Amino acid sequence: MKFIRQFHIILILIWAPTLVFGVKESLFKTCENSGFCHRNKYFAESIKNEGSNYQSRYSIAPESILIESKLNTKIIHGQIIKDIPTLAEDFILPFELSILEGNNIRFTINEEQRHIADIKAINITNYRYNQTSDWAFVTSELPYLAENLFKVEIDQSKSEVIVHYGESNEYKAILTFNPVTLTVFYNDIPQVIANHQNFFNFEHWRPKESNYEHLTVEETDYGMFEDHFVDSENDKIPLGPESIALDFTFKGFKNLYGIPEHADSLNLKDTTDSDQPYRLYNVDIFEYETNSRMAMYGAIPLLLAVKPEISLGLFWINGADTFINVDKTSNEEDSSTHWISENGVLDFMIIIDKTPANINYNYGLITGFTQLPPLFSLGYHQCRWNYNDEKDVLDVNQLMDKHQFPYDTIWLDIEYTDQKKYFTWDKHKFPSPKQLLKSLDHTGRNLVIIIDPHLKTNYFFSDEVIKKQACINDSKNTTFYGHCWPGESVWIDTFNPTSQPIWDSQFEWNNEFFGLDSSNVFLWNDMNEPSVFNGPETSAPKDNIHFGGWEHRSVHNIYGLTYHEATYESLIKRTKGNTNRTRPFILTRSYFAGSQRTAAMWTGDNMSKWEYLKISIPMVLTSNIVNMPFSGADVGGFFGNPSKELLTRWYQAGIWYPFFRAHAHIDARRREPWIAGEPYTSIMRDAVLLRYALLPTLYTAFYESSKTGIPIFKPIFYEALTNPKSYSIDDEFFFGNSGLLVKPVTDEGADRHEIYIPDTEVYYDYTNRSLPSINVYKLDEPGYIKKDISLQDIPALIKGGHIISLKERYRRSTRLMVNDPYTLIIALNNNGVAEGQLYIDDGESFEFENSGELALVKFSATESTINSQILEINDTFKQKISSIKIEKIIILNSKSNKSIESISIKQGDEEWQAKFDGTVDKKTIIHNAKIKVSESWDIQLIYEPDHDEL
Ligand code: GLC
Repeated sequence: MKFIRQFHIILILIWAPTLVFGVKESLFKTCENSGFCHRNKYFAESIKNEGSNYQSRYSIAPESILIESKLNTKIIHGQIIKDIPTLAEDFILPFELSILEGNNIRFTINEEQRHIADIKAINITNYRYNQTSDWAFVTSELPYLAENLFKVEIDQSKSEVIVHYGESNEYKAILTFNPVTLTVFYNDIPQVIANHQNFFNFEHWRPKESNYEHLTVEETDYGMFEDHFVDSENDKIPLGPESIALDFTFKGFKNLYGIPEHADSLNLKDTTDSDQPYRLYNVDIFEYETNSRMAMYGAIPLLLAVKPEISLGLFWINGADTFINVDKTSNEEDSSTHWISENGVLDFMIIIDKTPANINYNYGLITGFTQLPPLFSLGYHQCRWNYNDEKDVLDVNQLMDKHQFPYDTIWLDIEYTDQKKYFTWDKHKFPSPKQLLKSLDHTGRNLVIIIDPHLKTNYFFSDEVIKKQACINDSKNTTFYGHCWPGESVWIDTFNPTSQPIWDSQFEWNNEFFGLDSSNVFLWNDMNEPSVFNGPETSAPKDNIHFGGWEHRSVHNIYGLTYHEATYESLIKRTKGNTNRTRPFILTRSYFAGSQRTAAMWTGDNMSKWEYLKISIPMVLTSNIVNMPFSGADVGGFFGNPSKELLTRWYQAGIWYPFFRAHAHIDARRREPWIAGEPYTSIMRDAVLLRYALLPTLYTAFYESSKTGIPIFKPIFYEALTNPKSYSIDDEFFFGNSGLLVKPVTDEGADRHEIYIPDTEVYYDYTNRSLPSINVYKLDEPGYIKKDISLQDIPALIKGGHIISLKERYRRSTRLMVNDPYTLIIALNNNGVAEGQLYIDDGESFEFENSGELALVKFSATESTINSQILEINDTFKQKISSIKIEKIIILNSKSNKSIESISIKQGDEEWQAKFDGTVDKKTIIHNAKIKVSESWDIQLIYEPDHDEL
């Protein structure tokens, strides 16, 4: 009965969004009513109350230290002893300390006795889950630092281990034995101390009957063997208490970032006085609120701490329910965080380097870098729940052309299926999907279709998954049944290797559903937290069982990643051997560390309100900071109906999201961009045209990120580390390394706009491509510039020192832009120089990887020269792009007061004079330059002599 009532309520909430305002907080746990978090909070409070009298129960046994030479590296092993005064037996927690390339130090703690514990629940394994890293890391062969590159010392008094590492031994880690602390130094200055506050806690295995003997005075037994939360009372917690917790003090750091997903500011907030620590627990959070630390759809447990001279990454390698308390106020200089996870091994990595960009690189070495997406996926995506039938799709496709709106992809939400049975088409609404794809293909467009992990019961596919025992099981180890969009459903267990071939079979070329004889169809994986409408916190019960006998509790935050990775794998197999092999594109709602390798994400079900447009900027920034750059928010807002002004402003902001898609709820009114009418439609079109013009710059940014992890939606502080104010700016951003500084308008009725310039470099106005005249800003000290704005304005600046590439012709879609000529904008800096990079490949295949079919071009300029150097190209690709020209070059020179007399261009053996407009408003334009992009070239600018020189 309870289940029916709850399910009923949820359905009402989902289908009648206008009746409900805001998230239903009571559906979600807080730290207080979550057993493991409550207990650790209590534990930390007790320790704080005891102050310096507190004697930790944990210490390292000096005789346990062993240095093992393995795989060309050294691993330090030892044992932490947990001493419970009332018990004769000590609890042994074996640990490992290792050093990886990229200045990463990793510390892992497990539990010995649990392995031999007499666990009554025979369906589950009694080990602590230690495979999070297998999913998060890019390869199982970790880049361990060679043993000759670091030094390990054991202190004479046997009370600590010291490790020196780094190119010139600039890093030092000291592991003390009693109390157990790990301090990492850079140039002999401590940067981070683990367990500085003694909150380290490792709940060891104990039988329920004798639990009281195992409890110490600092502890409470709240929720150790039963869940008090109303919707998860059925959770029997068969393994009892298993939580792990640890505090970290960041020395001299006040600016902390990361740990998405939360609808909150970029710079993490202090949570000491709130009952809302940051929570990482992937959930389908209905009507989420802004400025909240509540859990959302994805989780990346990477925290960045940044100060001018040093940055630090803390990667908490755990996929269980996790709460993080942030304390920025207790100490004037330092910040601290308290991490509490429900179970698993305690495993973390500390990365210290000079800049946040270096942290992104070092973390990327471990978890992988973003995929280089197919170029079309950086175009504009047109989505709604739902395009009703084939005619609707083709009408929208045609109307886009009629209104000269470039777009690349139209999306089909769940209604395209036969009664929400994935891998089927609704034959009435979509009788000829092959033909539909061909028609879209004909106009250079693609289709994305949704496939969720819940499978309606009683049809061929779920029957097969059940038969082959590839479902997530319930706590009795039989198929788990729950409710989602199709009604009663089962969930594919993508931890189970059996699932992959079953999944693959649906994506094959000759498959009835997907054998569409076409390569312009891509995937959307939604509801993969997983969302279970009648489950606790709208997700799977924690005592459900996955492949290998692991409780869902241990792997919850990783499930979404395993699911979209399975889809990626199937798509890769589908295209193997096919000459048209296209890079897969997958959008996922749920994600974990490592998801960047195979998927893009979006911020889920936002609302058509200004505050959601505003919060989308820090949310996408945070995602970028933790190496998940391919991210965006539903343009226009999912729930509700945006005003014409809000929709227009959202398009103007959305063109900068790395992933740019308009989407709307099934109950929302139609809002394709021509519906708003003039002047809105033209203004939205101009915005989308700007996105398309900038695609060479965006694609280059993705290329750079795929090699280095650098954010594409890049926080201001990345380029202004010595400016303290820049650390809290989260309403503007740099667009990759291009020098474009953007601050979208996110206020209703705005007619004034302030943009923060974080340094004293020259900035050129690029608002609406700054035609016909250009403003130049050069401040004596960082500060705000003010501009009057109107609805059509998309405020942006170009920082001096950069060269950006564009393609400015109107085309229907990216595919039709391939051979279009380039425009370069050269923005000279205070010293009269500029530089830029352009990456080109075919935009769709893997030939860039397989046979080096790519071009990497470097542009440099001074006041009197511009040149291009080909850093990488092979003959085949050179031939392929030989007809593509650089057509126009715009030179912005803040200091130019001289007239240019002539401009000569030299490429190979040829030399010719350029046609150009004389300098007006610090801008000179070269037209019809006829330069091949595939070969190096030089330009000389000859100035007319000054009057004084005559
Ligand atoms: C979820 C998604 C939303 C989608 C809907 C129907 O709410 O977040 O984008 O439209 O499901 O599939």
